Amino acid sequence: MKKDYLLPSLNDARKRNKETSEKFSFSLDERYKGIGEHKKYHIITHGCQANQRDSETMAGLLDAMGYEMCDQQKDADVIIINTCAVRQNAEEKVLGEIGALKRLKRENPDLIIAIGGCMAQEEKTVSLIMEKYRQVDIIFGTHNITSLPKLIYDVISDKKRKVEVYSKMGEIIESVPVTRFMSHKAWVNIMYGCDKFCSYCIVPYTRGKERSRDKKDIVAEVEELVSQGYKEVCLLGQNVNAYGKDLKIDYTFGDLLNDVAKTGIPRIRFMTSHPWDFDDTMIASIKNNKNIMPYIHLPIQSGNDEILRKMNRRYTREEYLALFDKLKAELPGFAFTTDIIVGFPNESKEAFEDTLSAVRHCEYDNAFTFIYSRREGTPAAAMEDHVDMEVKEQRLQQLNELVAYYANKNNQRFKDQVVEVLVDGLSKRNSNVYSGYTPENKLVNFTGENVKTGDLVKVKITKVMSFSLNGELIKE
Ligand code: SAH
Ligand code: SF4
Ligand code: F3S
Repeated sequence: MKKDYLLPSLNDARKRNKETSEKFSFSLDERYKGIGEHKKYHIITHGCQANQRDSETMAGLLDAMGYEMCDQQKDADVIIINTCAVRQNAEEKVLGEIGALKRLKRENPDLIIAIGGCMAQEEKTVSLIMEKYRQVDIIFGTHNITSLPKLIYDVISDKKRKVEVYSKMGEIIESVPVTRFMSHKAWVNIMYGCDKFCSYCIVPYTRGKERSRDKKDIVAEVEELVSQGYKEVCLLGQNVNAYGKDLKIDYTFGDLLNDVAKTGIPRIRFMTSHPWDFDDTMIASIKNNKNIMPYIHLPIQSGNDEILRKMNRRYTREEYLALFDKLKAELPGFAFTTDIIVGFPNESKEAFEDTLSAVRHCEYDNAFTFIYSRREGTPAAAMEDHVDMEVKEQRLQQLNELVAYYANKNNQRFKDQVVEVLVDGLSKRNSNVYSGYTPENKLVNFTGENVKTGDLVKVKITKVMSFSLNGELIKE
């Protein structure tokens, strides 16, 4: 059967050009305003902070069309699933969710189901959804979010299924509406895409080339957040240290950190810093600005040189550990976390032991650990792998035990201490308890009265666990 839609291509997505990205300003076509009056939408978000922020943009666009957000799928006229493709299990979960929507679509044929995010960039997923999941009306890529109003409008008009996924993107679009999901903490994109091409990773294909936003736009966004009462910003990029390189100007992430710090926002975080290009200007900015939080996420992925080389991580074990030791010495009191992949193709027992020894060396506050997941279209997908899944699972468990040991050890320093907590709200687990995070990004559950989301409060830590702290509010 001839397809009346265009499939994306991970192969095309691999291509990069050296040109600086063009910047456009978005404005919503008058035609699309008001078509959502008295209608509701629901968004399900998977994946990383970039996706969280993208969902806020989708919400901003739908709000501008007159739609209203709702908590329940069954109340929605439009359901959007913002997907993640980083590992197989994330993808399977999404396919299960889409499958379950079939019933809602049967009950309400006017329901519009839209699938966006990183899975939409994969040709295999788009083919699968178009052939097997006929309840889906719209597939839109990570570079096509601003087309959502048009796509929804067109589906309402002609009832035909739509696919709009660009494989490549060299643009930056500013002034897109946003509805932030939190009123005290905000995600701020500083750059899009990734040019690192770690051999296992799908992100450079699903998110396009590295493109930095104009520093003026970033600072203006943070200033606006300050005026709205926000207490924390998290500056987002797959490799924040690469900020500015594509702009070909003499201004780096370290400079940006200084400028963002000047806005006076109480808390600044950033995600993710890659060991590559973690330069001295960056370290100096972090050290000199009290509102940059004492927390650094520095993914190691593996502690073995051969695996690191096969991963295309661009550093050796020795280089990583040297940087880590330098940061630890220059930034006392900081918390450090990492990402680790076990079971990379043909990872030997010795290679895995090297990862364990690196963890013992760094004594991380926490680590996000994953079993390697084969991503079609990436170079690692073609590598031979003779390691059994059972072995990989054992390695993950062994690693997690070590991570928990150091997490607990690190947390002991907070026992009986008074810490500052930015309050997120009532704890998810216990309705008489509030929760929030310390500057070091430690989760604190505490008892107290008259506390609101967004308050910065003092809490005395009474109990220390591996992955959270308990405490009591101190009345001032
Ligand atoms: N840009 C960030 C990472 C984004 S993806 C960085 O480089 O630090 C988040 C994490 O998912 C990665 O750090 C890696 O540990 C993990 N990951 C990425 N691809 C994976 C794969 N194919 N299998 C298992 N884990 C993967
Ligand atoms: Fe993926 Fe590597 Fe880019 Fe991180 S730096 S997003 S792991 S390719
Ligand atoms: Fe997932 Fe895409 Fe983020 S693959 S981790 S949602 S960049």
